[in-house]
Amino acid sequence: MGLVTSTEMFKKAYEGQYAVGAFNVNNMEIIQGIVEAAQEERAPLILQVSAGARKYANPTYLVKLVEAALETTDGLEICLHLDHGADFEICKDCIDGGFTSVMIDGSSHPFEENIALTKKVVDYAHDRGVVVEAELGQLAGIEDDVNVGDHEATFTDPDEAVEFVERTGVDSLAITIGTSHGAFKFSGEPKLDFPRLKRISELLPGYPLVLHGASSVPKEFVDLNNKYGAKIPGARGVPEEMLREATKYGVCKINIDTDLRLAMTATIRKVFAEQPELFDPRGYLGPAREAIKQMVAHKMKNVLGVSGKL
Ligand code: G3H
Ligand code: 13P
Ligand code: ZN
Repeated sequence: MGLVTSTEMFKKAYEGQYAVGAFNVNNMEIIQGIVEAAQEERAPLILQVSAGARKYANPTYLVKLVEAALETTDGLEICLHLDHGADFEICKDCIDGGFTSVMIDGSSHPFEENIALTKKVVDYAHDRGVVVEAELGQLAGIEDDVNVGDHEATFTDPDEAVEFVERTGVDSLAITIGTSHGAFKFSGEPKLDFPRLKRISELLPGYPLVLHGASSVPKEFVDLNNKYGAKIPGARGVPEEMLREATKYGVCKINIDTDLRLAMTATIRKVFAEQPELFDPRGYLGPAREAIKQMVAHKMKNVLGVSGKL
């Protein structure tokens, strides 16, 4: 119990055909909302920190806040993970600073360079009991006006995935099958390349795969944002049933950030619109924290299947 790596979490998730949620954190209220949900749902949890989050909040603050969350909860298991580490230095910094997991994202580099960079991080991390996620393929959305061939070139090649895992010894692999970051993932019908996912999971039995860009962009929250002054028409995410389906094929970690942003911002917008006299930050950050908690609890229970798996 306490701060752990994702090794045991993924082993159980793979066997149980569910996924552990990896939620991005930037400040105290976000951490508290997510952790309260995990505590109530009795769910293992990955909290992830991007380079932007480290810059915004100061890495020491985020690590200490997560430690505080562990101290004030009962028997929770949290994996503290670096999201999208761009180079060896940031991974090293996080490993030395108390993270239990790092992502080295070499996906924009040619195959051999991605392997060499990932291997360097894996060697450093494993010597210190830290696990590593890597990425192969480039995240992109499926859009009506881009032909399928263009996208296929950026999706993870199943044979390359096997070679990549064997040569790097990396602990988990983020793959690209049509998801993308942010609130505008599909301009037409949402579609993921499930045959590709099935092929990758057949070739890597027992191996944990990771899905980035997996927010569902719930219409309810897009509408709520727009109702209170936002301008995000046409936002669209990955349908929840597709995420549930993905957990049957080795996807053990599902990354969610955008949906937390939507819930938090909609809530704050609503408070501002309905209570113009309010200027105590606790008056809007408190409801925002509660909205994050509800969103995460919903994901854990109804999408990831991770509730009760602690
Ligand atoms: O993958 C991106 C995550 O949503 C983190 O976003 O780099 O703006 O913190 P960020
Ligand atoms: P979303 O933008 O779909 O929430 O994805 C987040 C993510 O992949 C973080 O690494
Ligand atoms: Zn990502």
